[in-house]
Formats: sequence, structure tokens, C-alpha cells
Amino acid sequence: MVTKEVVIRRATWADASAIAAMLEVAWHNAYDAIMGRSHADEIGAMSYSLGAVRMQILFGNATIATAGTRVVAAAAYSESSPGTIFIGMLYVLPSHQRQGIGRTMIAAIQRTKPHANRMRLEVLVQNAGAINFYESLGFARHSTARPSVATGDLVFVLEKALRPREAVRPRLFDWLTGAARRQAREPILRFTVGSRPAPGPATSAPTSPLAKHPPAPT
Ligand SMILES: CC(C)(COP(=O)(O)OP(=O)(O)OC[C@H]1O[C@@H](n2cnc3c(N)ncnc32)[C@H](O)[C@@H]1OP(=O)(O)O)[C@@H](O)C(=O)NCCC(=O)NCCS
Repeated sequence: MVTKEVVIRRATWADASAIAAMLEVAWHNAYDAIMGRSHADEIGAMSYSLGAVRMQILFGNATIATAGTRVVAAAAYSESSPGTIFIGMLYVLPSHQRQGIGRTMIAAIQRTKPHANRMRLEVLVQNAGAINFYESLGFARHSTARPSVATGDLVFVLEKALRPREAVRPRLFDWLTGAARRQAREPILRFTVGSRPAPGPATSAPTSPLAKHPPAPT
């Protein structure tokens, strides 16, 4: 099997067009069959238009996975309440799915918020593949189906309890110590797809043989 290095890092302004192009492909691959092309087009713009992606980069903790120069996955998330990470989107390029990238994106997101004690997200009730994916990582349904606030489509809220790895640290502390700027430049995780797993260390470690399935969030 051919192996390739995947780097997960925060997205920058310069990544916006590549992210938008990747999201458009992944979006229609996921949703055209579920919701029909015209509805997928209608609400897709909220996710993959250049403007929407730029907003995520500015305000949404936009995070990407790259293989070489190619963007192969993107996620956006926020701390919706103290300690709760809300994942607003997670997309892996169809050609790169089922290689452990989605799972590693979730682990990377948790790594950026080590004080978090919960992850939450909404998933379309018909999106069986994604529901399986999240359940395989330990997420469980927190609600019966309910209309999404953003689109009105029926969604499940999925949640997973996390084991916090450190106490809550005021953002001001990160800003004052320069940690926020350093974190913005450094890779969050590097791993290799197509090789066997080994439990893996941390931020900005040299390339490690983490995947096929690197550690899931705890
Ligand atoms: C859902 C998604 C993010 C998963 O990312 P991925 O990189 O393909 O997933 P991983 O390779 O990390 O999968 C880990 C495990 O999740 C489960 N899983 C992942 N995709 C699955 C699918 N389509 N059907 C069933 N189980 C799935 C499997 O148990 C898998 O382990 P395995 O490959 O050893 O069997 C990706 O398929 C995707 O972008 N889908 C389209 C967009 C979408 O639905 N996003 C979520 C919106 S809330």
C-alpha cells in the first residue's frame, strides 16, 4: 500500500479557495443522494462558498488536513459553552475517506482544547455513514431527531464525554505568553496513512507512524 504523510494544521487565509473546492466535492458526494441535488445546492453555499469558508477561518477554528499540497479534509469548531467543543463541520475528500483521516481530525480538535470535557455536533438523520463514524468514536445520540437551527433539516445531536487533559486556561494567558501565535503556526498532528497504527505523541512532534488508526479522542 502506498503511504503518504498527512498534516493537520489550522487553516490560513491562503487556504480558503482550496478548502472551498474540497468542501464542494465532499458536500455533494455526501448529500446529493440524501437530500437531492437542488436542496444540497441551496444549503451548500452556507458551507462551501468562499465567503463562508473565510468566515470559518476568521472565527471558526478552521482546521485542515493536507497531503502534500492538497487539502484532503476540513473541520470547523467552536467552544459553544465552557468545556464543550461544538463541531460545526467535518469533511474528508471522498478519495481519502476510510483512511483514518476523519478520526484523526477529531483527535486533533480535542488536542487544541485539552480542557474540554465534551464534544457535540449535529448530523443529518439520513447520514448513516457519518453516524456510524461518530458512533465508532464513542459518540452517542443526545436527542431524538429535531430540525436543524441552520437549515430545518432533521438532525440528531450526538455527544461524547471527554477526559479533560488540563484545567481551563484563560485565553488571555495563551495570548500573553505567545502560545496562541505559536499554536496557529504549528501542525497539530502529523501522521501517515496506509501504515499500521502506533499510539502517538503530540503537537509538532516529528512525523510519527500514527495511522492507519491513530488514537481516538478520549
Ligand atoms: C464521515 C467522515 C468525516 C468520516 O471520515 P473518514 O476519514 O472517512 O473516517 P475514518 O477513516 O476516520 O473512519 C473511522 C471509522 O469510522 C467508521 N466509518 C467511517 N466512515 C464510515 C461509513 N461511511 N460507513 C460506516 N462506517 C464508517 C468506520 O468504523 C471507520 O473505521 P474502519 O475504516 O476501520 O472501518 C467522512 O466520511 C466524510 O467526510 N463524509 C462526508 C461528510 C459528512 O458526512 N460529514 C459529517 C457531517 S456531520
